[in-house]
Amino acid sequence: MPFSEDVRSRLDADAVQIIGKYPRPRSALLPLLHLVQSEEGFVSADGIEYCAAKFGLTQAEVTAVVSFYTMYKRRPVGDYHVGVCTNTLCAVMGGDQIFADLIEHLGVGNDETTPDGKVILEHVECNAACDYAPVVMVNWEFFDNMTPEAARQLVDDLRAGNHVSPTRGPGRLCTWKQASRILAGFNDDQATDGPAAGPASLVGLKIAQEHGWTAPEPAGAKSAETGSASTGPASTGPASTSEVLPYPHGTGRSAGSGPSAAGVSPADAAGGRPADSAEPGQPTEAGKSPRPRRAAKPSAPSAGDNESSPPGKEPQ
Ligand code: FES
Repeated sequence: MPFSEDVRSRLDADAVQIIGKYPRPRSALLPLLHLVQSEEGFVSADGIEYCAAKFGLTQAEVTAVVSFYTMYKRRPVGDYHVGVCTNTLCAVMGGDQIFADLIEHLGVGNDETTPDGKVILEHVECNAACDYAPVVMVNWEFFDNMTPEAARQLVDDLRAGNHVSPTRGPGRLCTWKQASRILAGFNDDQATDGPAAGPASLVGLKIAQEHGWTAPEPAGAKSAETGSASTGPASTGPASTSEVLPYPHGTGRSAGSGPSAAGVSPADAAGGRPADSAEPGQPTEAGKSPRPRRAAKPSAPSAGDNESSPPGKEPQ
């Protein structure tokens, strides 16, 4: 059923905000798909038509993007997406057993929703939480060090409407639709709640601090303090890695990916800039020109990024 006028005007208002964040409008396709998914719980044919019209794309082009990424669903999903990591480390630590147990316990297969519409079960790839293997994610929140028994209890609680708390992050779960809206770029009030890094993630940091180890400065990087080039280990870097890493307190749901609490990136805090950040043509102290600056690769492709635009002309 096509979006009602109400829904369409709500989506339009949000779409303006999303698209306004990108220099090339079509780069907003991925978050816009999350937005339409937040409306219906999946990306329907109407959602695809809506996104295609926004960017002047064909519906086939948008469908190609939707079908590439498993985070977009093409049919209704339950309130809770339960993702069991069955990648290598989680698998050998029990993830395969958890997944097999949940299939039997819920009576559904992979990517299928329980008859009550509450839970969809899916095996997922590594979620960068291997130090807490085996992990289960519910609407992309972590449940660490799971066992088959704990996983069965978790899905039972979700179906019964009982309160469940992720191991890290916020103290309560949002629904699948709400999670999709967050992924579209609209934060809820829980973005910075709870711990993001636990003891297992900090073991390496602790050992480094005990030994006074610091990360080597990138070859050819300029020291922020001396302005000189360096090809060896940092000699002007921070006294300990605690000055470099955004720990120990939680920073929300994207642990380790943002700036430190002081707003300083690890590269800056290490006392220098990455080699690639030097201006092309500017000789280093050693008399060598640094490598030309490379365009940053996008974290994920979008339909518009594959197209070249005439100079000075903004793609639709
Ligand atoms: S293998 Fe499961 S989180 Fe990495």
